[in-house]
Amino acid sequence: MSKKLTITSIKKSKGEKLLVMITAYDALFAKLVSENADIILVGDSLNMSFAGKSDTISATLEQMIYHTNAVCNGAPDSFVICDMPFGTYIDKESALKNAIEVFQKTSADSVKIEGGADKAEVVKYLCDNGIAVCGHIGLLPQSVRSEGGYKVKGKTNAEQLQLIEDAEAIEAAGAFCIVIEGVKAEVAAAVATAVKIPVIGIGAGANVDGQVLVFSDMLGLFEAFTPKFVKKYLDGASLVKDAIKEYADEVKTRAFPKEEHTY
Ligand code: KIV
Repeated sequence: MSKKLTITSIKKSKGEKLLVMITAYDALFAKLVSENADIILVGDSLNMSFAGKSDTISATLEQMIYHTNAVCNGAPDSFVICDMPFGTYIDKESALKNAIEVFQKTSADSVKIEGGADKAEVVKYLCDNGIAVCGHIGLLPQSVRSEGGYKVKGKTNAEQLQLIEDAEAIEAAGAFCIVIEGVKAEVAAAVATAVKIPVIGIGAGANVDGQVLVFSDMLGLFEAFTPKFVKKYLDGASLVKDAIKEYADEVKTRAFPKEEHTY
């Protein structure tokens, strides 16, 4: 990556270039992805692929701050977004207190919060108080329990209108970009057309302003399940397991270490 993006350059990219966002949870992978990602998202998905939980609900602010620091250390020249975990932005005062903690304890450039028009007041309060906000509409992983599963959105006329209203409300509240997840492609495209800020899709088709994937999904490292929208660019789990097996075999036969690995 050449120059670190800012919320201004991200907003300006709309219609000019497609944005590449990838998650990372540690310094090692942040450095690796930073060469080709415009934006690194420290997603609360880390609670699943990193902490081994079945959903994102139990991720804590402390956990997000820890991982965001690691990512900022590994990719100091990248634009980094820290996901606000479940329960940390239920009203505008607690949202601001928690987002300030993220900004003071890490060098994250922005926070991300899930929700549409219902969260516009919170988004506005954060933006008015110096916190850059990325919205997240459509399928909301933090609502998995209250909605009884991961539900693709935009299937009905009413849902399509709601998504457009959500995006417009988040934009009017001051967000600089919006992640749209698990939405029918044509509806996501209509949402992207309705607002002037970039709309970055995940499971939302190609006609939006950029894409985001979870790094452990796209590298084939996360084996528990693979959502339909994930393309595996690497068979990471097999490669890692093969390498570990080779190491184990060599340890057991004393083929490792060799002369060149020995003092
Ligand atoms: O937590 C996360 O990784 C996310 C992406 C799915 C957008 O929010």
